[in-house]
Amino acid sequence: MATTPEARPHRGEDRKRQVRTIFSEIAPRYDLLNHLLSLNIDRRWRRKAVDRLRAPEGDPEARILDSCAGTYDLSLELARRSGFEGRVVASDFALPMLVAGRGKLEGTAVDPVCGDGLELPFDDNTFHGAMVAFGVRNLADVDRGIRELYRVLRPGARLVILEFTTPPGPAMRRLYLFYFHRILPLVGRLVSGHPWAYTYLPESVKDFPGPDELAARLRREGFRESEWSHLTGGIAAIHVGTKPDPHHGS
Ligand SMILES: C[S@@+](CC[C@H](N)C(=O)[O-])C[C@H]1O[C@@H](n2cnc3c(N)ncnc32)[C@H](O)[C@@H]1O
Repeated sequence: MATTPEARPHRGEDRKRQVRTIFSEIAPRYDLLNHLLSLNIDRRWRRKAVDRLRAPEGDPEARILDSCAGTYDLSLELARRSGFEGRVVASDFALPMLVAGRGKLEGTAVDPVCGDGLELPFDDNTFHGAMVAFGVRNLADVDRGIRELYRVLRPGARLVILEFTTPPGPAMRRLYLFYFHRILPLVGRLVSGHPWAYTYLPESVKDFPGPDELAARLRREGFRESEWSHLTGGIAAIHVGTKPDPHHGS
């Protein structure tokens, strides 16, 4: 499928505008396409990401940030867990995404906030954990986004990032490239009605640093115990990092 200029990931403020426009325009169809195009594997990935977060249990004061929360699937994965008694603050800068998902929130411990991941509207050392699913790749400035996550985490708290990657094995890679560059943009365009949003998606994955580099960038911004693992043959990866706690020698 041909890549049009508007589908190529832009830079800086243009990237921010591009990303906000895409998600605002596809918001009403986002959930449908998400589960359809991932053949529902995304649910399993989100479960694993929340497992790795190790959010505090039985603590009504626990506050967990879901940055780039979209229509809340990751937030809800945590909020519905038995044992979790805190609240999930779900932040995203595309209001239509938050609005599209709000029907799923009734009676849950999820609090939506419209905010920019590059300038999180929270005090330093606020959260007992933070998580981002398929959001970091879309940030106009990845390092700044990581710094913001670090800033708002409490010492000793964990960050979990779930993100697409390009599979390392040749067979899986061929299959993935065919699906991601041929099938996905076509189905995405037909179902969403958006001419290029689903061409942007594979382009943004191609444009994004690999997991080793992302892990190094997390370490550079201060995270410790930074590690990552592949999911489903390397289509996605989970990163984990901890903000050091000077009082506990981590
Ligand atoms: C692919 S969606 C992922 C949504 C959700 N986390 C999920 O797992 O389905 C990416 C989300 O990141 C949000 N996003 C991108 N850049 C952002 C920024 N700078 N600040 C806040 N949200 C941002 C978009 O608005 C979009 O909702």
